[in-house]
Amino acid sequence: MAATTIPVDPFDLVIIGGTGDLARRKILPGLFRRMCAGQMPEGARVIGASRSDMDRAGFQAFVRTALEEFAGETQCDDGAVDRFLDMLDYETLDVFADAGWKRLKKKLRADVIRAVYFSVGPSLFGEIARKLSDHKVTDEHSRIVVEKPFGHDLETAQALNAELRACFDEHQIYRIDHYLGKETVQNLMAVRFGNALFEPLWNAQHVDHVQITVGETVSVDGRGAYYDKSGAMRDMVQNHIMQLLCLTAMEPPSKYGADAVRDEKLKVIRALEPVPLTDVVRGQYSAGGDVDSYVAHSQNPKSTTESYIAMKVKVANWRWAGTPFYIRTGKRLRARMSEIAVVFKDPPHSIFEGEFNRKGNVLIIRLQPDEGITLRVTIKEPGPGGMRLTEVPLDMTFAEALGDQVAFMPDAYERLIMDVIRGDQTLFMRGDEVEAAWAWVDPIVKAWSDARDKPEPYDASGSGPEDSLMLLHRDGRRWREIKA
Ligand code: BG6
Repeated sequence: MAATTIPVDPFDLVIIGGTGDLARRKILPGLFRRMCAGQMPEGARVIGASRSDMDRAGFQAFVRTALEEFAGETQCDDGAVDRFLDMLDYETLDVFADAGWKRLKKKLRADVIRAVYFSVGPSLFGEIARKLSDHKVTDEHSRIVVEKPFGHDLETAQALNAELRACFDEHQIYRIDHYLGKETVQNLMAVRFGNALFEPLWNAQHVDHVQITVGETVSVDGRGAYYDKSGAMRDMVQNHIMQLLCLTAMEPPSKYGADAVRDEKLKVIRALEPVPLTDVVRGQYSAGGDVDSYVAHSQNPKSTTESYIAMKVKVANWRWAGTPFYIRTGKRLRARMSEIAVVFKDPPHSIFEGEFNRKGNVLIIRLQPDEGITLRVTIKEPGPGGMRLTEVPLDMTFAEALGDQVAFMPDAYERLIMDVIRGDQTLFMRGDEVEAAWAWVDPIVKAWSDARDKPEPYDASGSGPEDSLMLLHRDGRRWREIKA
């Protein structure tokens, strides 16, 4: 059974930075896949805009190559690529000059949804917002989409928000965090709030601790200059991991709607305790195999930027007091593994003897590689020999459970772009959320720079620095193994 897709209303989507890397790899192939899934309406148009001096035919040729490279596997009929290219148009645009904006405005239709994707660096956000507004390329019904990094700290995030809000209302601003577009991340809400089973146990009384892991095998080779100014804290924790933490820890919203969900997430961020240096472990990968060290990739021999971070985070409210959230993320680890593991407390009393007599259940929400949900439960070991207990997974891998529907499952970007067209902000970060996240991150970063803290080297293809094991050991706990 293929997934049900409901076509969206006709739209003009302008991609500023339309010939850039994100457009080529994610946005354009994503839109193509949505067309193949039957979600594009008649009258959908995508207008690339960038400094490159090319015409419509040139842009179509560029997109054809991008689709061959990044959407080659898509199941679609023979004429699909040509139909998609027919939807495209192009405008040469120097963001700072007026001429291109005037031409762009003439290209757009009055009676369809209008969205503008800022697929460029944040230093241009303010200027683009002003030009869109001054030239009336957008109106109060239009939407704008912006990408991370949304600021480098609280001050810069506030400045960016102010620049955007000077021209657009908050309900028009779609700040992308692609983790929110991942299927399992939304499933976390479905599991929590669509079942009566888990919610009564979802609190400090029953949950011993939560582990959030986003492990990657990739290095920062090729993007070392950006990454070295950012590090794992700014690149992954302030946004992606923060969102995972919020969805795990938040109170049930009164309904599944943009402000109801975001209000609850914001309360979680505001309830986060400051993290002392003793609860943070930072690491930097060493050279290994045929891959260079972090320092070589960053081209900064004195770099103290972390490519790995682990932290013990406390959510100071009634639901979570006493139940820590351990989070970790790193590059060049043994496996690509991202998951949220909710580790329940042991049964209060055991009637059995032996090693397994009091093992807590674990609910694992796996984001990648194989999206799915697993509940680890204790059962009797099969066969004779007395009452021996063992642990088994109750496993639901989406690919197996949902069959064909998974083949048509949109990737994070596809889903989020369609949400922009639908006007649904639930899976986008609100300005106050982003600022609150920076307000929590900034003092932690400041503390380690004041202390001249240096990251601990760790073996490429391992599971991170030794000290990160200690972070849990000293609390009598241990990390789940990083494995594919
Ligand atoms: C990006 C980060 O936002 O997310 C990258 O800048 C990171 O450093 C990437 O590799 C991870 O995304 P995903 O979807 O591959 O887990």
